[in-house]
Amino acid sequence: MPTARLDHGQAVLPKNGALTTILGMANVYEDPRLAGVYQRGNEMPEASLRDWTHLIGSFTEHPTPAVVEIGAGTGMFCSAMARWLNPSAVVGIDASVPMLIQAHRFNSHPVVQYAVGTAEAVPTGSHLFDLALLSRVIHHLPDRARVAGELGRILRPGGVVVIRTTFRERLDALVYDYWPQLRALDEQRFPAESEVLDDFAAAGFTVRTVTSFARPVTASLRDYHARMTSQPQSKFTQLTAGEFQDGLRRLEIDAQDESLTRPVAVVERHDVAALSRA
Ligand SMILES: C[S@@+](CC[C@H](N)C(=O)[O-])C[C@H]1O[C@@H](n2cnc3c(N)ncnc32)[C@H](O)[C@@H]1O
Repeated sequence: MPTARLDHGQAVLPKNGALTTILGMANVYEDPRLAGVYQRGNEMPEASLRDWTHLIGSFTEHPTPAVVEIGAGTGMFCSAMARWLNPSAVVGIDASVPMLIQAHRFNSHPVVQYAVGTAEAVPTGSHLFDLALLSRVIHHLPDRARVAGELGRILRPGGVVVIRTTFRERLDALVYDYWPQLRALDEQRFPAESEVLDDFAAAGFTVRTVTSFARPVTASLRDYHARMTSQPQSKFTQLTAGEFQDGLRRLEIDAQDESLTRPVAVVERHDVAALSRA
């Protein structure tokens, strides 16, 4: 029976910059600046991360699932799944070496192996995993049909892929209140629910559920403002420096008005689609 461990060589990071482009498209997460601020700018309170992880784990019935995260980034969910899902293995794949360097720094865990690779050509054997997570990455993957085919290859029969995203028709994060021009830009970047489901159905997947889930990402608007100063998401690369500063100033004013004794947690909602492989 093949196991979900990577072969020794695959777990080793190649030289920095070995994957500077993916299928001819630049990956903004190759930028060491963005990679360096991503973890602190996107982490969530422990209770939120635990709730999210339990939701993701609820889609597999396997008591000790072999798990893969594609587009694992700085490994926040890899280490969380290792801690809370009792997995037999967790493999985190990402195309960006700078992001994987941060994953090793912030989210090392004995059960987790990180490897550089792409969603379009996952560097593992076939039929290894019970659960595959794609969190906040589907909008970076233009060839979804190919990605769906790869997931069909690496999942075991009955395995589940969980797509955590915000579908185009439901872009509602607080960030759009302060940078409204980002909504129109993201409407071009993010796929619609039906586009994603159709591509996975064509690869033989069956939709189990599509739901929404919301949890706090920061304890206050002040904390939210503080994290936004580092521009910790790829969406900010679409703005000019002036546009970014204008939105940040509006956010700062609201954050300064926030009551010190009654801070308001910032809650973010994501869509979750769970699909089963035949
Ligand atoms: C927004 S981050 C999400 C990180 C993590 N999954 C999370 O939820 O915090 C997107 C990640 O996807 C990676 N990525 C983009 N295109 C990819 C591809 N074709 N194959 C694998 N990873 C990719 C980027 O390098 C980046 O680390």
